[in-house]
Amino acid sequence: MSTGSQIGRAVDRVDAHAKVTGTARYSAERRPPGTVHAVLVGAQVANGRVTDIDTSEAMAVDGVLAVLTHRELPRIATRPAVVPSLAGTSAHGQSLFPMQDDRVYYAGQPVAMVVADTLERAEHAAELVGVTYAVEAAITTIEQGRDEAFEPERIFGGIVPGRTERGDVAAGLREADVVMERVFHLAANHHNPIETSAATAVWEDSRLTLYDTTQGPTATRLSVAELLGIPPSDIRVVSEFVGGSFGSKAMIWSHPTLAAMAAQYVRAPVTLSLSREQMFTGSGHREEQEHTLTLGAREDGTLTALRHRKLSPTSCFDEWAEPSISPVSQLYACPNFEGVYNVFRANTMTPTFMRAPGEGSGAFVLETALDELAYELGVDPIELRLRNHADTDPETGDPWSSKGLRECYERGAELFGWGLRDPIPRSRRDGNWLVGTGMASAIYPVYTPMSPQRARARVYADGRAVIETGASDFGTGVGTIMAQVAAQALGMETEAVAVHYGDTELPNTVAAVGSAGAGAVSSAVHTAATALRERLVGQAVADPESPLRGADPAGVAVAEGRMFLREAPETGETYSDLLRRHMMFDADALGEWEPPAQDTGYGMATFGAQFAEVGVDPDLGLVRVRRLTGVFAPGRVLNRKTARSQLMGGMLWGMGQALLEATHMEPQQGRWANASLAEYLLPVNADAPDVEAEMIEVEDRVVNPLGVKGIGEVGQVGVAAAIANAVFHATGQRFHDLPITVESVLAKL
Ligand code: MOS
Repeated sequence: MSTGSQIGRAVDRVDAHAKVTGTARYSAERRPPGTVHAVLVGAQVANGRVTDIDTSEAMAVDGVLAVLTHRELPRIATRPAVVPSLAGTSAHGQSLFPMQDDRVYYAGQPVAMVVADTLERAEHAAELVGVTYAVEAAITTIEQGRDEAFEPERIFGGIVPGRTERGDVAAGLREADVVMERVFHLAANHHNPIETSAATAVWEDSRLTLYDTTQGPTATRLSVAELLGIPPSDIRVVSEFVGGSFGSKAMIWSHPTLAAMAAQYVRAPVTLSLSREQMFTGSGHREEQEHTLTLGAREDGTLTALRHRKLSPTSCFDEWAEPSISPVSQLYACPNFEGVYNVFRANTMTPTFMRAPGEGSGAFVLETALDELAYELGVDPIELRLRNHADTDPETGDPWSSKGLRECYERGAELFGWGLRDPIPRSRRDGNWLVGTGMASAIYPVYTPMSPQRARARVYADGRAVIETGASDFGTGVGTIMAQVAAQALGMETEAVAVHYGDTELPNTVAAVGSAGAGAVSSAVHTAATALRERLVGQAVADPESPLRGADPAGVAVAEGRMFLREAPETGETYSDLLRRHMMFDADALGEWEPPAQDTGYGMATFGAQFAEVGVDPDLGLVRVRRLTGVFAPGRVLNRKTARSQLMGGMLWGMGQALLEATHMEPQQGRWANASLAEYLLPVNADAPDVEAEMIEVEDRVVNPLGVKGIGEVGQVGVAAAIANAVFHATGQRFHDLPITVESVLAKL
């Protein structure tokens, strides 16, 4: 009689079949009749002016309809301002919109757009656009920009202050028995989702439909509306399938607006798709960064002071740095803290969110330094962390909404076999491999949306249900958990619930960013499905013809699509019977979840513990990760299968960060030197070790109705430090720069 718990079940993804069979249609594959293709031409220089553009050769190519440059492209209605998409507003990735004048700020900045009847002709013609520049010297790297650095007031789209302080760091360092200072360097990174960014724009009179690959259809709608100066209600954005993102599609870059402008210009639907190379200059990146961490500790390992300085390049027009200092400030109890960002103006686009933006880099810095401290003091690394455990949020003194970190250490140590470890560096061998193990903590904040989150639930008389939200699923599984959450609230099987999502015509939800997608969408869906259940139960108890007539609604339970008295389960009726008796084809309800105010009075974060075992070949400089174990406390788990996939993906991402991923700047030209998947190294299956990801469910009554804390990013945090610490254990050598390359290992061994 009872429907088992739908929440938590390892349900297969609702979009799996379409993706595996190739029937899923992505934004660039939408081809309304008459669709033509736009291709962008990026600036070849990193700084200067366009002095001339010769479009005649390109225009002469068969099938070319237009070549648009700053001379032809209409002016935008408003200058964009960088706003993070969590706000539920427009979400411009940078405040520069291309082709508004002749100024070039970074290589790859679009300077022309070619429109032709086929993609091939457009690409060919794009190569024939002759651009002449007045070139100026460019600054793109920390080496070049160090002396120009300044302290910004705010970073990260304005949501993080440029400086954080508490206590008295100088006093804390004086009290310390051990003071350590370390400098770290992290390479720039790019996201590289399989699907490159793309938009197809279709005008019907004054109404625009955009098939856009985005984490936030509403953010696209609002951003494009602002730039074009048209009402948001005249724009529909459809993002049915999105092939990965990792933050590259969180902000709304210029291409959907450019597609819409091109479509207006040639009076035909236009698809604009970035090439793989253009993804390196078209959708943001994680900036190159240098960190200086100073820590003071007593002999027992308790921290007395932390000072963290981060230096990184930002664009010429925005002040963006990923907030690497936040995890350093929040992870451990430390009374004296100072964190300062420094940025300098560089000839790159504005950097952006990239999976665990800030936490991924900050945790590497802190957790490497703590491992060094553990060795210096002869304390076990887990024990050192327990001695500094933050029982309350170190930034505010507030209690945590939930934590579970101690349990993660304990379970992780058990799974990984941490207790068997001989801490002496270079004490273990396997043939020619030096073998070592390391660990680190993980933290990722719980962001809640700043606007109400809506969903609609509908039950049909045939006993099936549909749940609708505007949110897109960019590969996380959020579409699947919508069905599960609705099924749970309605008392149905997940398989009886269809989901519609990724469309601004559906009830509004915020962009899925900051690991907040599952929390936001599940809350909206839970609210809507609960409202519908209450509506149907209310109708039944008020209906003289219902077996439930006169019952107290609070005493009515639902399971398998049937409402019944909890105390007398044989008394009841199905949703279908109720609807049919009333000649109702369906019934629906809109749910609106109001997120908690930004200051809940609680510290809110997801925690975890990471463990790595590596082998290092001292002759070849190879580092092979042999095992990764992660244990996380993400609140409530909505789907064990998709959740585990997210965590595993995050952990492998961390392995890429540790050992492979780097975008190299050619400093004279100011251009990325390896803007391709051939030369930007990513882990592949052959690099992947056994990955063990486990979840400990902790109850959280603060973050949202179901206590969902988010898992998209925390899996990455701490992995690079765990690996670097394992490399130290294996070799006796510390690595403070990422990635840890073959060359850097050979230089030290
Ligand atoms: Mo996530 S890197 O905030 O899209």
